[in-house]
Amino acid sequence: MTLWSGRAEGELDPAVWELLRADDLELLPYDCTATAEHAARLHGAGLLSADELNEVEERLSAIAHEPAAVLSSDEDVHSAIERLLGPVGKKIHAGRSRNDQVAAALRLYVVDACEGAREAIEALALVVLSFAETEADTLMPGYTHLQRGQPLTLGHHLLAWVEMLERDRGRFAAAREAASASPLGAGAVAGSTLGLDAPEGQLRNSVDAVSDRDFALDYLYAAAMLFQHLSRIGEEIVLWSTSEFGFVRLPEAAATGSSMMPQKLNPDVAELVRGKAGSAIGRLTGLLATVKGLPLAYDRDLQEDKAPVFATRRDVRVALRGLTVFVSGLSADRERLASAAADPLLLATDVAEDLVRGGVPFRDAHAEVAGSVRDGTFSTTGTAAESVESRGAPGPGGVHDAIAAARRRFGART
Ligand code: ARG
Repeated sequence: MTLWSGRAEGELDPAVWELLRADDLELLPYDCTATAEHAARLHGAGLLSADELNEVEERLSAIAHEPAAVLSSDEDVHSAIERLLGPVGKKIHAGRSRNDQVAAALRLYVVDACEGAREAIEALALVVLSFAETEADTLMPGYTHLQRGQPLTLGHHLLAWVEMLERDRGRFAAAREAASASPLGAGAVAGSTLGLDAPEGQLRNSVDAVSDRDFALDYLYAAAMLFQHLSRIGEEIVLWSTSEFGFVRLPEAAATGSSMMPQKLNPDVAELVRGKAGSAIGRLTGLLATVKGLPLAYDRDLQEDKAPVFATRRDVRVALRGLTVFVSGLSADRERLASAAADPLLLATDVAEDLVRGGVPFRDAHAEVAGSVRDGTFSTTGTAAESVESRGAPGPGGVHDAIAAARRRFGART
């Protein structure tokens, strides 16, 4: 039985039903919250008695935790909730449509998903910061083009991961802000005649309220950017844990083995995170393509917004949690790092800058040092440690201050 069965005669063909049915069970608790709000406003307008409101509220709090009560004969969770409310459910849809209802529920869902992402990002950032603290003074080559460039510390490099995560936290906060408004009252497209009070944070325009999915796209964008970063972090761990680099050792409790090759310890966690970036980017572009060219206001195409949002929430959660455990078990191979950092060519720029200090124009100094590298006579008495020290990177107070400042920004209890 559909909510609209009074309009069309006869049974729906099962093939049509299969297409129509929404896979939206995850919205259930959020829709119950939005429905309770709507019920309160119906009561405010004298359209629901105090007893009826009570009954609605009680039933909704039970329904919210009973996904199994939603049946395959319900078109979507909105229809299921109305059915599960029993006789009083017949009154609940006054002054609303599933169009404002689904937008309200999805907004609450996205707010929650953003909050979860924030917490998980902070947990990962704190673990990266602990690693950075342990390796604050561990020298390594800094790379450009994946070729050795200048010496820096592992702490300095890891702080770059933290910067990426901090921007991600900001993007999820922005998506949360975009989702934090109420489409309730918009009804199907132009409101209702029932004179219900406006909900808190009501969107200004009812047409926009039921057609806007920018908040979902903002969320998917924040997630795509997060995964873009996690994929780069994952790739660095994969690279650093190879025998060729050997900069880090994988945590045995979080690394994986091979079914055939007994010696293997593999960075599957880092690879999966890297791989999931492709899916995250696809979900963003998929929903963008869905909304592109859609006439205002609601169209059933919008039912397709849920799958990417649900899947993204799951991936954000499992990727961040898995990577947090993985990174917390990583350890640096300081000997390998030290021997890589001892490559004298890492100091070529320092030598050129020494010449500059002596009055040689930089371009000439560059050519002179390049020539000595080319003919194999390059040498320096400087060390990587002195070089790092004299550059004061990554900030005026050096790596230790930068780590402490980042820890404060991430609210670490010290
Ligand atoms: N399940 C629908 C969705 O996800 C709810 C809205 C249906 N609205 C309608 N006018 N048919 O978008």
